[in-house]
Amino acid sequence: MANSDFVIVILGAGKGTRLKSSLAKVLHRAGGRSLVEHVVRACQPLKAREIIAVVGHQADDVTAALVPLGAKTALQKPQRGTGHAVLVARRAIPSRAKYVIVLPGDAPLIRTDTLAALARSHRETGAAATILSAEIDNPAGYGRIVRNDDGSVAAIVEDSALNDDQRAIREINSSIYCFTLGKLWSCLGSLKPQNVHKEIYLTDAIAALRQKGENVQAILAADSDEVLGCNTRADLAAVDAVFRRRKRAAIMDAGVTIEMPETVLIDPEVVVGADTRIEPCVQLLGKTRIGAGCTIRTGSILADAVLEENVVVKPHSMVVASHLSRGAQVGPFAHIREHARLEENARVGAGTNIGAGTITCNYDGVHKNPTTIGKRVFIGSDTALVAPVRVGDGAYVGAGSVITENVPADALGLARGRQVNMPGWAASRRRQMAAIAKAAKPRPRKKSKRRAPARRSRTRSRRVKRSRKR
Ligand code: UD1
Ligand code: MG
Repeated sequence: MANSDFVIVILGAGKGTRLKSSLAKVLHRAGGRSLVEHVVRACQPLKAREIIAVVGHQADDVTAALVPLGAKTALQKPQRGTGHAVLVARRAIPSRAKYVIVLPGDAPLIRTDTLAALARSHRETGAAATILSAEIDNPAGYGRIVRNDDGSVAAIVEDSALNDDQRAIREINSSIYCFTLGKLWSCLGSLKPQNVHKEIYLTDAIAALRQKGENVQAILAADSDEVLGCNTRADLAAVDAVFRRRKRAAIMDAGVTIEMPETVLIDPEVVVGADTRIEPCVQLLGKTRIGAGCTIRTGSILADAVLEENVVVKPHSMVVASHLSRGAQVGPFAHIREHARLEENARVGAGTNIGAGTITCNYDGVHKNPTTIGKRVFIGSDTALVAPVRVGDGAYVGAGSVITENVPADALGLARGRQVNMPGWAASRRRQMAAIAKAAKPRPRKKSKRRAPARRSRTRSRRVKRSRKR
């Protein structure tokens, strides 16, 4: 898929005002990655001569996210619109490049195959510009593709500038285009801001090219989801949902059962082996790798975990950056923290028994210290193991202990107050309380012949008297 006569320009300088956020728009996340990272990853396999991202708002942070992905950056300050952003990128475009693919940094669902088809079509038709368009049910907010009677593209009209007839158009501009560079530069430099924002719109280049008699094409994306932009939080949620659905579909295709899939969240780099079963409300995050034949039961969260084959994670467990060897079982309600390693067939809950509520207190405020628990050990519930500490093979630890020293093999470690029983104490206490309550009870008053004062005031005066007595 070599496209060495192409460069790619990704527009990522905007603030994202509609997100109402202190974070630059393209650094917002959906489907487990930043928006701009998705876009760069979709472009990489095209093997264009260069990927250039236009940065501006929070330029340093956006650049830091892009450099590891092999993209160059061009600084746009101030940000004067999408057309201006492309002009800023011009300096970074090598002279040998013939075509440019322009993409917005806020439409992350685009697929490599669609971009390749766009580039191919552009080359074949010899057009000055090819727009990737899409038909969507709710086109509000998008620029619309306005066509002439013969079907050719006339212009892109932004949502805010539509007349009533145009508002009904469902074919939208994805903001993804191919341009022949020579033709683009011949019109872009002379575009003027024609909108309330006083911005130079790249969309205005389309009408300008047509006025020069140039050939402009628009090709429809087969899957309209691919062009969805993220201008608002609701857009982000909708785009995230599409990514998550795509990932679950890929995992299921690999032979994995997912129960109630819409409740399961899987990050893009997660790998799951065949015949593994995932119950509802599970999250598989980061670089988690799960072998074949595992069971991940409901409510469990695995982050950067490695599970070999036939591992069982019982309900509501959390496994973080740990390695569970073949046949291991953890949970229910286990929290396996960073760098733990369970050996083959190890069980948290049997063999060595770690009682409910046990905590390994590894952090002393400065260092993380190890807790080592031997084989066939029994740790009673609600034990705190203050590291560094070692519990030898076959040892017992009594429930509720705070263990600060090593427990030798086969010993009982007990570190809690000794129990004292006081016979009859509770019964005597109850008698005492009853006597106090009786003494405090007011004596009934004699009936008066005079009309009784209102009930409320009588109660109040009694209350006052009683409080004086105290
Ligand atoms: C844009 C298109 C619209 C299209 C929609 C698709 C224009 C004028 N409108 O609208 O036709 O339907 O995308 O999602 O192009 N940016 C810069 N520098 C700037 C301004 C913007 O780099 O000065 C970047 C933004 O960071 C963003 C992208 O360009 O990634 C698009 O800008 P945005 O403000 O989201 O444009 P839309 O209103 O979505
Ligand atoms: Mg947008």
